[in-house]
Amino acid sequence: MKKLILFALFFALTRVYGQDSAIHVIPQPVEIQQSTGEYTLTSVSTIGFNNQDSRKIADMLVQKLNNPTGFSFKAEQTNSASIQFNLNKVPVSQLGKEGYSLVSGTSGVVITANETAGLFYGMQTLLQLLPKEIESKTAVSMAWTIPIVKITDYPRFGWRGLMLDVSRNFFTKEEVKSYIDQLSRYKLNTFHMHLTDDNGWRIEIKSLPKLTEVGAWRVPRYGQFGGRAKPVSDEKATVGGFYTQDDMKEIIRYAQDRNVTIVPEIDIPGHSMAAIASYPELSCTKDQDTKVNPGSSFSEWYKDGTFKMLLDNTLNPSDEKVYEFLDKVFTEIATIFPNPYIHVGGDECYKGFWMKDAGCLALMKKMNMAKPEELQAYFMKRVEGILKAKGKKLIGWDEILEGGIGPEATVMSWRGIKGGIEAAKMGHNVVMTPTTYAYIDYQQGEQTIEPPMYASLRLEKCYNWEPVPEGVDAKYILGGQGNLWAEQIVTLHHAEYMTWPRGWALAEDFWSPKESKNWANFVPRVEKQFERAEIEGVNYSTAFYDAIVNVRGKDGEMTLEMNSEVPGLDVFYTIDGAMPNIYSNKYSSPVKLPPGPITVRVVTYRNGKQIGHLITLNPEELKGRISTR
Ligand code: ACM
Repeated sequence: MKKLILFALFFALTRVYGQDSAIHVIPQPVEIQQSTGEYTLTSVSTIGFNNQDSRKIADMLVQKLNNPTGFSFKAEQTNSASIQFNLNKVPVSQLGKEGYSLVSGTSGVVITANETAGLFYGMQTLLQLLPKEIESKTAVSMAWTIPIVKITDYPRFGWRGLMLDVSRNFFTKEEVKSYIDQLSRYKLNTFHMHLTDDNGWRIEIKSLPKLTEVGAWRVPRYGQFGGRAKPVSDEKATVGGFYTQDDMKEIIRYAQDRNVTIVPEIDIPGHSMAAIASYPELSCTKDQDTKVNPGSSFSEWYKDGTFKMLLDNTLNPSDEKVYEFLDKVFTEIATIFPNPYIHVGGDECYKGFWMKDAGCLALMKKMNMAKPEELQAYFMKRVEGILKAKGKKLIGWDEILEGGIGPEATVMSWRGIKGGIEAAKMGHNVVMTPTTYAYIDYQQGEQTIEPPMYASLRLEKCYNWEPVPEGVDAKYILGGQGNLWAEQIVTLHHAEYMTWPRGWALAEDFWSPKESKNWANFVPRVEKQFERAEIEGVNYSTAFYDAIVNVRGKDGEMTLEMNSEVPGLDVFYTIDGAMPNIYSNKYSSPVKLPPGPITVRVVTYRNGKQIGHLITLNPEELKGRISTR
């Protein structure tokens, strides 16, 4: 008998402690109360909705659950299903448009919201409460438990964005849908598509067929963007692609089902070489040999941040035909995309060709303009007029502030936060997407192992970003956005690697209360998402496990400082040419290097297991990263 009791106790204990009952939702909900116990989804559980609008979400959950569970759920109209989706008849103001409440007990779960967007987000939270195997595409036999919780949740910001640059690299319709699906699961609701640039025009404009016949295709090239060989004269342009208007409408519907709105960007007047390759008369130089750029060099960048274009990639602001062209483009864009905003770029526009053009100089004189920025401002005001006539609002990169812009324009602050501060102080609405916190095309770990890039943005920095700059009235900050430029990205899996986990950090920056942000608490939640992503087949980066190695130099000596973003990792290193592991030196305080030449090798471990990549820093690399701080 005694043995039996001990046995029963053992099982009860392993049931409680052997299973991880902690909740790991990203983004962190506003309020979450957990009680002991769980509900277990079985083949006799039911999924219900209270009206035809909530049906949509119940049907989506059924679609999601049937494969991994192997059960045959079917959504039904009722008020008492095991998983019940209810739209409020009388809105609860705290929940707004996108909030939800999720209450689970031993007999099931009720998700309530004012609008379907909230039910969709409640469903995403529910999926993250279920075991990770819920991401499996095939049936898994296991206990589908849902912890007992009471969650009330709603977003901090209305604009929670990610941008994908589909111009520099064309991502197919199916790839784009997959990316939208991924971001929507973390309650991001805005997908900005950078549809045009020097390297490809990606959206069909029926009245201007050459934009995609010519502008969507470039010659095949690999290698570092900006260093690729130029097109040769008769070379066939075979790489690229575009979305037909029907494709785009399908993508938009797919996004709408996931509470995602698409912001289309037509980047003008600079970054327009693909349009100019299609219609050379749009530029000042009218060079008939203009080709869609394959990533070859055509610009010079200087230390003070200024630059020069060696080939003309700008539209001519003094030519009425350019505005006729833009009217055609935006007429079609405005009918395809339901979003009230159209992004018109405005960034990095070189004015050198304008200043040599008789038409531009005459316009400046006529309009009494003192500097070329005023020409760009004139251009943008004309564009704003075109958009307004179609019932659309203008949003652009922060350069649109230079030379002035209409008060209703929304500014995307990318060159740090200063553009956003300035714009908000002038009363413009702002979306914050500064390079310093939101450029997820930057490297995310040790620079000698990550894919080459000129700048770095680590996960912890993304996570610790406060999108409302100090001294700015928060009412002007619509929200924030991460930007994934794709000059160096040619597959969806690489795009995923760059996006996750930094996209999770950004999702939490944009959704969760500022007060609830906590890096040490975020790290284990990221690790749980890794497990889910793995089952789902979504790529991600584990660079945050890698050591961070800084070198200080003084009087010809070098001192190494090492740490890691993830708390509690052990950093082991060698300076004797050996491979580092648990038998090597364990880092505890700055290491003064003896006279060399020395190669340093560093690796991280957790609980006796290697977790970070091997970092090898040769003597030149060490010297190159000396800081005198
Ligand atoms: C930009 O990164 N050029 C907006």
